[in-house]
Amino acid sequence: MSPDDAQLVIKLRDEQAWGSGRLGVVAVASTTIAGERVLLRPFRVEDAVDVAESCQDPDISRFTMMPEAMSEAQAREWIEQRLARREQGLIAFAITLPPSDRCIGQMGILLEPQFRRGEAFYWLDRQHRGQGIASEALNLITDWAFSEHGLARIHLVTHVANPASQRVAEHCGYLREGVLRAWEPVKDNQPDVVMWSRLPGD
Ligand SMILES: CC(C)(COP(=O)(O)OP(=O)(O)OC[C@H]1O[C@@H](n2cnc3c(N)ncnc32)[C@H](O)[C@@H]1OP(=O)(O)O)[C@@H](O)C(=O)NCCC(=O)NCCS
Repeated sequence: MSPDDAQLVIKLRDEQAWGSGRLGVVAVASTTIAGERVLLRPFRVEDAVDVAESCQDPDISRFTMMPEAMSEAQAREWIEQRLARREQGLIAFAITLPPSDRCIGQMGILLEPQFRRGEAFYWLDRQHRGQGIASEALNLITDWAFSEHGLARIHLVTHVANPASQRVAEHCGYLREGVLRAWEPVKDNQPDVVMWSRLPGD
């Protein structure tokens, strides 16, 4: 094979990888993922009222990138931004508990197909905590992302002082890799975080 042919093969492989990743991302627009109790469905602008209500909880803004005490209008804008970033691999689902269609949280993953990895993130309305709902939702998105997007790794980071989220990661078979100091800005801080990961064989 000539060097030019080799380059072409690599280029085609890259395009295939990106193509399938993109198709997956586009297809996800109407995807729902059902578990025993939890249903993950795409966000809708009508969820703004519930998102705003949940995000009055200071723990959500403390431990996630969600803005502090969002108004309904800000929540609507936030949902629109989420939907617009889907093609960039940002896949965010509303957590619901059928038969109710009400959004009680977010379970999302940022897909990075060029690295065959994704980063999961989540929050849950305070009233629904302590019943294993976040753990079920994280398991659902993890299995879905491995099977639909062929990832080699999914990771997530938790604030060092966030034991609830660390338990969720543990419950879902994520392995604790260690502490990353001053990992990334979160509001006015740049906290130390724990890095967790799951591989398909874990
Ligand atoms: C983290 C969060 C999503 C967990 O949701 P949840 O549905 O209550 O999670 P689960 O019920 O699946 O599991 C929570 C686990 O943490 C444990 N837990 C809760 N608070 C805890 C605390 N202060 N200390 C130690 N463990 C705690 C629960 O007992 C449970 O573990 P167990 O099942 O072994 O008893 C929710 O607390 C939340 O939204 N927090 C604010 C936002 C946030 O931290 N997001 C994650 C950012 S990485």
